[in-house]
Amino acid sequence: MAALLTDHEITERVLSHIANRSTDAGETLWREPVENYRSKERFEAEKERVLRRSYAAFCPSASLPDPGSFIAREAAGRPVVAVRGRDGVVRAFKNVCRHRGMRLAPDSGCVNAFVCPYHGWTYELDGRLRHIPHAEGFPGLDKQDHGLAPIHAIERNGVIFVSQAAAPPQAELAGLPELFSKEQQIYATSERVTEANWKIVLEGFLEGYHIRATHPETFYPYGFDNLNVIEHTGPHSRVTFPFRRIQKLAALPPDERRVMGYLTFVYHLFPNALITVLSNHTNLLVLEPLDVDRTNVIAYSLTNRGGDPAEALEAAKKDSSFTDIGANEDRTMVSAIQRGVASDANESFVFGRYESAIAHFHRTLTAALA
Ligand code: FES
Ligand SMILES: [Fe+2]
Repeated sequence: MAALLTDHEITERVLSHIANRSTDAGETLWREPVENYRSKERFEAEKERVLRRSYAAFCPSASLPDPGSFIAREAAGRPVVAVRGRDGVVRAFKNVCRHRGMRLAPDSGCVNAFVCPYHGWTYELDGRLRHIPHAEGFPGLDKQDHGLAPIHAIERNGVIFVSQAAAPPQAELAGLPELFSKEQQIYATSERVTEANWKIVLEGFLEGYHIRATHPETFYPYGFDNLNVIEHTGPHSRVTFPFRRIQKLAALPPDERRVMGYLTFVYHLFPNALITVLSNHTNLLVLEPLDVDRTNVIAYSLTNRGGDPAEALEAAKKDSSFTDIGANEDRTMVSAIQRGVASDANESFVFGRYESAIAHFHRTLTAALA
């Protein structure tokens, strides 16, 4: 699997684009039928055949710091709980009691065992059924057959991925770098519903062709219009958005060039997650589709690595309050697109050569659905 560029290689590529007034570009256009953003049938197929079957990013490792730490959430419309065991291994289960189907774990927390709020059936962190109150009422019931229903979970590169496929899929993560390190602290978690199809929300992050028009007073003054490095590794992509100040790195010897603070990286973790690495903070965004035109955006915000933790936290919060303004500008765009999807103005959307990370996504999604 292709490895992503090093800091030095990225810097060289960006400096050459600045000098030549160029940018990375794909070979061809991509046309995506608008029907694919409004069809319930397509939406269900995406959830069933792609979002549930792939290893989808669920939360950062840092959100499950200790044995017993858990996060419970919908993943592709199904209740899932991920929990760190006493052995340090993260496991995931359907968040459903095996007695009469109650939702077992609340949103998040840290427990010694999961106790069902309905009748008190109690499960170990590894899913085994430990205790049934008044067990004499269930003659012949084998506890071993009533452990929590497991789903596949892996922890790689600082992220926990889950898959609801019957057999564990290929993880395809070999080309990705460490995405979060142990020094990075979580300082905010949020959820927000955007009135748009999950793919329209995703597309908004994957090109820099909209920077001047959409973000004239937020991102554009610090960055460039339509100047990106676009890389793919397996089904995933990384789009680099340089800041103007990256030109200072030209004066440094290649092995001293560190790009953090000089650009924004946006990783698309196929199918439905993004990692945005900004100057002083990093977000993991999970796009949870609620309906064909509604998406819950779950955001985990972490400080960046290095330095004094208190200073890192303060810098991260300041950084977030700036980038949130830009994120609002994007949200306005994507919701307005969704309202136009129902009109018959376009039979397809056309993605140009500068939007090639989006083309890569649709090509991969189309193949995964086939
Ligand atoms: S539904 Fe969970 S104990 Fe009854
Ligand atoms: Fe944007």
